[in-house]
Amino acid sequence: MEIFDVVNEYGEPTGNTVDRETAHLEGVRHRTSHLWLLRKKAGNTEILLQKRALTKSFPGCYDISSAGHIPAGDDFRESAIRELSEELGIMAEESDLIYCGDKYIVWDDEFFGKPYHDRQYTRVFMMWLDPDENEFTLQEEEVVDVLWLDLEKCIEGVKDNSFENCIDIDELRMVRRTAMNNIYTRVSIRKYQDKPVEKEKTEAILRAAMQAPSAANQQPWEFYIVTDKEKLEALSKVSPYAGMTKNAPVAIVSVYRKDCSLPAYANIDMSIAMENLWLETDAQGLGGVWLGIAPLEDRMKAVEGILDIPDNLRAFAIFPYGYPAEEKKQQNRFDESRIHYVE
Ligand SMILES: Cc1cc2nc3c(=O)[nH]c(=O)nc-3n(C[C@H](O)[C@H](O)[C@H](O)COP(=O)(O)O)c2cc1C
Repeated sequence: MEIFDVVNEYGEPTGNTVDRETAHLEGVRHRTSHLWLLRKKAGNTEILLQKRALTKSFPGCYDISSAGHIPAGDDFRESAIRELSEELGIMAEESDLIYCGDKYIVWDDEFFGKPYHDRQYTRVFMMWLDPDENEFTLQEEEVVDVLWLDLEKCIEGVKDNSFENCIDIDELRMVRRTAMNNIYTRVSIRKYQDKPVEKEKTEAILRAAMQAPSAANQQPWEFYIVTDKEKLEALSKVSPYAGMTKNAPVAIVSVYRKDCSLPAYANIDMSIAMENLWLETDAQGLGGVWLGIAPLEDRMKAVEGILDIPDNLRAFAIFPYGYPAEEKKQQNRFDESRIHYVE
């Protein structure tokens, strides 16, 4: 018999338990976790749907990648990880799950002639899979098939009900909101297609860079946009780790003004602008990598010489970018041991 914790309105166990049948017969509040699997493929975001087994409620409908009730004593994350391995044969760590939000499901119906009152406190997670992930071991009793769908097309399809599904459109939008945050998916891209980058895209990238906060709002930055092949080749030689620059269609060289009001903060301001620029590059479907120049004097001088940068400016970084010719999954770098709560 499956036993659940009875939970309060915040999803916290009350100390009482209930069996599955009673929970659904009497509408006793219990917990479930939903886990959506996503991957980036050729610049698009795809979401995995599972097709429910024909013996289950909503037979043959497309549904959440993996979902399940939480047994008494378990937590949302550990239960989601276990369901994932049971239903789809995918192994993951709890910290791979990205929190999307909580929701409360209230649903009154009748099943096989019996009243059905569902009161679920649900925690929704998403997780990124490798771009080439296609190996699933399906649990026959639960899942008949899986399907990768473009996330936007999936949202359209659920909205128009153009394929058989039992997916909550608001939950899907909640997942999209989290997936759009490319802090977790941006990677260093060092191989580029032989294809120019549109000027509008470069302008969008520079707009994001210049939107960065800076000390006393001093905005110490200027940017050189290099497409000249000889200059790109020369820049590729300013450090042992800059070789990819010669194969990039374009590189941004960021520089800072020496006479800014708070020069001690200039490198920090430039770093924030670089992160903005990098995230926007990713958002534009492009890829790039930050090449460290400042604060190493010899590299700074070499870059300034190649681009004839005037004396009042100092070279900060090189950022070669273009349409990616490689696909990578970002690491999960969350480390709880780095957090020190002072309460
Ligand atoms: C300040 C800084 C300097 C970097 N310099 C180089 C470099 O010279 N060459 C290079 O290939 N990557 C360089 N990188 C990229 C890092 O190696 C990369 O960000 C890191 O390994 C994490 O990988 P990710 O960007 O894919 O998350 C630099 C990154 C930063 C933030």
